[in-house]
This record gives sequence, C-alpha cells and structure tokens, in this order.
Amino acid sequence: MAPPRGWFEVEATADQLASAGKLVVSLHRHEILLLWNDGDPVALSNVCIHRGRKLNEGVMLGTRLVCAGHQWAYEVTTGYCKVRERYQPRYALEVRDGQIFIELPAKRGPDTPD
Ligand code: FES
Repeated sequence: MAPPRGWFEVEATADQLASAGKLVVSLHRHEILLLWNDGDPVALSNVCIHRGRKLNEGVMLGTRLVCAGHQWAYEVTTGYCKVRERYQPRYALEVRDGQIFIELPAKRGPDTPD
C-alpha cells in the first residue's frame, strides 16, 4: 500500500502551539515536531538525521534547533544544518481556522537519507 500523501489535520491548534512553544504529534507513522518560530509555526521530523535522537529534547538558539544528542543545529525554517551541510526533513504546514494541517510526505534536502 502506498504511503499517505496530501494534507492532514493534526491534533494541535495554532493557539496550543503558540502557548507551548513546541509540540510533538504523530501522523501516519511520522513523528513530527511543531515549533513556534517567532510567530510562525514550522514542522520538522522529530527524529534527528544524525543518530535518531528526539529533537524535541533539543534547545532553540535563535532560529536554530540544537539537537541534544551531538549538538547539530538545524535552521527551523529550512532544516539545514550549516556545519554538517545536511538537511533535517521538514513538513509543509498550514493553519486553517486555527487548526494545524501538515502535508505528507516530508520535504527532504538533497542529501537527506530515506
Ligand atoms: S542524534 Fe542529533 S546530533 Fe546526533
């Protein structure tokens, strides 16, 4: 069976995300980290491309999310890690009537493994 594609509602509202700062949601076997980035919601895979640590355990430094595992720092809007020249998968996100929707599959950088 083909993996699901398209836009899906997740169990989080923009208000909940703005209040929490970050939330983890599951969607068709994707573990997704939602971040409130200076007034805009963004979505990344919650599984670090380096060694699989949960990115929600990391810390924000400006617009970068620093993984708690080995401190790879990802720009949250692009998923790009400048030092390693690698991309963390990210998801297109829309807010419709306050509800968050995510597009599957994730958008991947040119070097992101499957
Ligand atoms: S597991 Fe994230 S930097 Fe190593």
